[in-house]
Amino acid sequence: MRENFEINPEIARAETLPAAVYHERSWYERAKERIFARSWQLLADVTVPKAAGHVLPFTLLEGCLDEPLVLTVDDDGQLQCLSNVCTHRGALVVEGEGHVKALRCRYHGRRFALDGKFASMPEFDGVANFPRECDDLPRIPLERWGPLLFCNLDPAFAFSEWVKPMEERVGFLPIDRAVYDSSSSRDYLIDANWALYCDNYLEEFHIPFVHNASLAELDYGEYRTELYPYGTLQIGIAKTSADAFSLSPNHLDHGSKVAAFYYWLFPNLMLNFYPWGLSVNLVVPLSPTRTRVSFLSYVWDEQRRASGVGADLHRVEMEDEEVVEAVQRGVRSRFYDRGRYSPRRETGTHHFHRLLARFLND
Ligand code: FES
Ligand SMILES: [Fe+2]
Repeated sequence: MRENFEINPEIARAETLPAAVYHERSWYERAKERIFARSWQLLADVTVPKAAGHVLPFTLLEGCLDEPLVLTVDDDGQLQCLSNVCTHRGALVVEGEGHVKALRCRYHGRRFALDGKFASMPEFDGVANFPRECDDLPRIPLERWGPLLFCNLDPAFAFSEWVKPMEERVGFLPIDRAVYDSSSSRDYLIDANWALYCDNYLEEFHIPFVHNASLAELDYGEYRTELYPYGTLQIGIAKTSADAFSLSPNHLDHGSKVAAFYYWLFPNLMLNFYPWGLSVNLVVPLSPTRTRVSFLSYVWDEQRRASGVGADLHRVEMEDEEVVEAVQRGVRSRFYDRGRYSPRRETGTHHFHRLLARFLND
């Protein structure tokens, strides 16, 4: 049964997300269409094509949206993201990576230019009002930030609004020369709802309880969260300056021993900046109670890899997974529905729940 819910904007009065949102399929399906199909999504595991005619089909959010798309470089050298579904009867147009002059559907031979424009169709003489604009392959908004590519099937908010607060704060980092490190990148499969994983990431509260040893180098008293329209920043302050960023005098955080900038971008992306580089966590819902989290590492200073709070991410992840999976069992209980928030330590989670309410309710 599904009913709308409210999250009071005043955290001191608010109640947390209703438990049903974490396990009922109807809420899960609603989140897919209203949140995931309308937000900016990272194209993970995609090598960016460069030469004109290079085509690369991929599935957006496999196991969740399962949307067939294709990257192409058109004749003007522009990278394009197109629907990979033929506008005739729905066959997949590009079946494998390659270099081509134009796109051709092998089912009945419809052709498209590399930018998705309809080009020709055999045996269609006499078809009225043809071709129309909707016979082109739909073009999907595509954006780039450093080494990361993003697309959005039906944007509910602008890319610039989404990344701007982060760009202003960490744009000074050498993100453009960060190198993807496949050896330290991996997927984690978690028996919990995607939003529970985000809830846990977004609150500071559990750090001294769950990560007492693994994040002991963080100064919990100084740890804080900032909120943006479509994201949050958690600033991890180090106890010693050895493991902190060196920040120029005109940086907002100059004088603070920042060990990590932890960004969460609504709904499912975490960009964790450490002195050594960037650790991306991409959260992909697979079912109401199953989630895949891909950890992707982009390194710009290998020397600093072994020290600081970003040194043993696997251990921190195991600690988080255990507790999140236990919460998943808890939210199914007949005795649990909603809780309350700590105004000092759970502002990020409260902000996330308000966004969920805005997108999920009718
Ligand atoms: S489905 Fe593509 S040409 Fe018929
Ligand atoms: Fe954690």
